[in-house]
Amino acid sequence: MSLINTLRKTCQKALFTTPSHSQHFFIFHKLRNLYKLDISETDIHNPQEALSKAEEHAKKVYGCKDVSFLTNGSTSGVIASVLTCVKRGENVLIWKDAHPCHHNAVKLAGANPVYYDLPVSQDWGIPLAATVENLENHLKESEFKAVIVTSPSYEGIISNIREIKQLCQKYGAYLIVDEAHGALYPFSDNLPESAVKIADFTIQSLHKTAGGLNPTALLHTNCELDVKPALKMINTTSPSYPLLASIEANINYLNSKRGRKQLENLILNIKELKQNCNSCEFYGDDITKILIKHPKANGFELSEFLYEKCGIEDEKTNEKSTMLLTGIGTDEKKLDRLKKALRKCNDL
Ligand SMILES: Cc1ncc(COP(=O)(O)O)c(C=O)c1O
Repeated sequence: MSLINTLRKTCQKALFTTPSHSQHFFIFHKLRNLYKLDISETDIHNPQEALSKAEEHAKKVYGCKDVSFLTNGSTSGVIASVLTCVKRGENVLIWKDAHPCHHNAVKLAGANPVYYDLPVSQDWGIPLAATVENLENHLKESEFKAVIVTSPSYEGIISNIREIKQLCQKYGAYLIVDEAHGALYPFSDNLPESAVKIADFTIQSLHKTAGGLNPTALLHTNCELDVKPALKMINTTSPSYPLLASIEANINYLNSKRGRKQLENLILNIKELKQNCNSCEFYGDDITKILIKHPKANGFELSEFLYEKCGIEDEKTNEKSTMLLTGIGTDEKKLDRLKKALRKCNDL
């Protein structure tokens, strides 16, 4: 039985077990439907078995050795990956300005962080891709157990993961790819190639772009190591089965005809927006991250104009450019609103 159906199963037994709301004592009434589905590891429900099956199915969808559903974000996936492949005192090569979870993961493992820098685009004010040359300079110097690369970047810059994986193999280091912002990639040929079938560990946030609830995410493994012991160390022993079931539903949707069509429509709509806003300049390897420069405003001015005058909040801004994040739930109406706002910018 799927995890989704396991939660729906009507229960004839009186459960003298956790959780104490007994699926019908709704302290926060707005979430009453969530309480109804919020079960524990009871014999009658046995959600662990359904979860194993759902993760087994996910392996086939993504084509990797192992998939773990995460309910504590990509943060937990990055930490578990590092704890899995790195021991105390070993070196890990990480980007100086990486998400804090990379630094924390290395700290928790008692490992030794060595930092690499990335070039910054002067025109766009954003970090560029990690390259083999850049990483190899460090790998030649000392022995590394793992390398962590963020691809895509926040702004949609992609590093060449195939080349970087070969490099890591040459130097005997595991490759961990933080693909937190790329969870849609396995589901469209019109998006960059995902690392899920290439890197030793790939971590994706479903909640960022793929329509998932906060903080659902996935950890994909392609090496001989088992991430479960590390996940056990950092995770609760009482996971949220409604959130885990939402991950199962999320993957089923993304992999369905309907989901794939929705994604292609999103891509088409963004293409159309870009063609229609020809006074703006766009940049990046991932069309779903709308990174904009406008000739009449710097990044901060554009961000303020969009927020104050058009009621639009962007995801990230720097002095040169502004980035608006889209995802599977970004409909035509929202993009139309952005299109109109960008046209209005011409009056600045
Ligand atoms: C590049 C990157 N990696 C990892 C994370 C952590 O993701 P999560 O919020 O799913 O834990 C973030 C979150 O902003 C991020 O931007």
